[in-house]
Amino acid sequence: MTFPDGFLWGTATAAHQVEGGNHGNDWWAWEQVPGHIKNGDRSDPACDHYRRYASDFDLLKRLHQNAHRLSLEWSRIEPTPGEFSQPAIQHYREVLQALVDRGMVPLVTLHHFTNPTWVADAGGWEAPETADRFARYAERVATELGGLARFWITINEPTVIAYQGYVRGEWPPGKRDLGAAARALVTMVRGHWMAYTRIKSLHPDAQIGVAHHLRVFDPARPFMPQDRAVAAAFNRVFNETILKSLRLGRLVFPLTRAGSATGPAHTQDFIGLNYYARELVRFNRRYRDELFGERVLPADAPRSDLNWELYPEGLFRALRSLSRERLPIIVTENGIADAADAMRPDFLLSHLGAMKRAIQSGVPVRGYFHWTCFDNFEWAEGYSAKFGLIACDPATQERRVRHSARLYAEICRANDLPVSVELPPAPRADEEPAGPTDLR
Ligand code: FCB
Repeated sequence: MTFPDGFLWGTATAAHQVEGGNHGNDWWAWEQVPGHIKNGDRSDPACDHYRRYASDFDLLKRLHQNAHRLSLEWSRIEPTPGEFSQPAIQHYREVLQALVDRGMVPLVTLHHFTNPTWVADAGGWEAPETADRFARYAERVATELGGLARFWITINEPTVIAYQGYVRGEWPPGKRDLGAAARALVTMVRGHWMAYTRIKSLHPDAQIGVAHHLRVFDPARPFMPQDRAVAAAFNRVFNETILKSLRLGRLVFPLTRAGSATGPAHTQDFIGLNYYARELVRFNRRYRDELFGERVLPADAPRSDLNWELYPEGLFRALRSLSRERLPIIVTENGIADAADAMRPDFLLSHLGAMKRAIQSGVPVRGYFHWTCFDNFEWAEGYSAKFGLIACDPATQERRVRHSARLYAEICRANDLPVSVELPPAPRADEEPAGPTDLR
C-alpha cells in the first residue's frame, strides 16, 4: 500500500522563525534582553524568507513537496489596533498565490506564538479581550485571503504557549504562575471559537483546526503507581484538555478553575498534530508546579541535539489516540534537531513508517508536514538547534540541501516509503525554477 491518493506532503514554518524583520511583536522585544536567547541570537534576518519566498518555494517544489504550511505575522497585518496594513496583506496574498501557482496546497496558521506588541502590552492572552482582538484579525484575514487557502490553523500549540510562557517563564511574557497559564488557555480557546465561527461564516468550505502539540507521557518506573498517576495527569492536562474543550464547546478541568466560558461544540474540521518526543515522568513531591512530575531521560535513550527522546512509536500512539476524535488528522509538525544530519534519515523513515502503520490500521491521516524546510530561528534556542531538511546560514543566506531532504523528496515523489533507499542528486538552491511537469 502506498499513502492515500492526494496525500499532502510538505514542510512547516512559522513567520517569526523564517521571515526576518519582524520587529513589531513580543518575541522581538523578548530577544533584546540578554540571557533570553541562546548565544544572544535574534530573529532578524532568520532565513530572509519574507523576501526570498518565491525561490524558496521553487526549491521545495523541486523536492517534490505538494503542500506547504506557513504562518501569517499578525503584527505585520495589524501593526496598530484595528488598522490593517494593505501592503502586508498584499504580500501574503502574493505568497499564497505563489504556492497555488506551483501546485502546492497552502495550510495557513493565523497565530504561531507571536503577539503584536500592542496586544502584549494590553495583557496578551491573559486579557479576555485578546480573544476578540484575535477574532477580528482572523475575520479580516479570511475576508482578504480566504479564497487562496482551504486549510487553516487558528492557533499553534496553545498548551506550549501556556507552559513555556506562563509556567516555565522561558518565553514571553516570562511568567511562572499556574493561574495565569490557565487564564491564557481560556482566552485562546475562546479566541479559537470566535475565529472559527467568523471564518466559517465567510468561507463555509474552509477546513479549520488547531495545531496540538502532543507528547507521549510514560511512567519512568512503570511498576510505581505514583509514576503512573503523574504520567496520566500530564496526559490529561497537556494532551487532552484543549481537544476535549473544543469537542464539547465548554471548558473542562483544569481550565474550569480559570473561567466557565462556553462556545460552539465541534469547532475543529481536522486535527493538527505536532509530534516530537516522549517524556518519561517520575513522581517527585518537589515538582509542585509541574503536577509533581519530574521528567527524566535514561542515559541510553536515543536523543536529538536538544536531548529530546527519539521515539517513533509515539507518533503511532498519538495518532491512534487522536482517532477517538473521529476527525481527519494532519501531521502539522514532526522533526528533529540534528545539525550533522546523521539521525534525520532514520528519523524520517521510522516516523513515516509509524504513520503508515497508523493509516493502515484505519486512522484518517491526510497529510504530513515535516518541521522544517530550513534551519531557522528556534525560539529560545536561537540558531543553535538545526531542524532543517535544508541547511540555512543566517549570515550568508546560503541554502544547502541535506541528504535527508533528498530522501524526503523521494518519499514525496513516490507517495510511499522507499523499499531500498537510492537518492537522486541534490538540486542546487540556485537552480532555475522547475517546469510544471516536474512535480512527479
Ligand atoms: C514546535 C513549534 C515550532 C518549532 C518546533 C521545533 O513546538 O511549533 O515552532 O519550534 O517545535
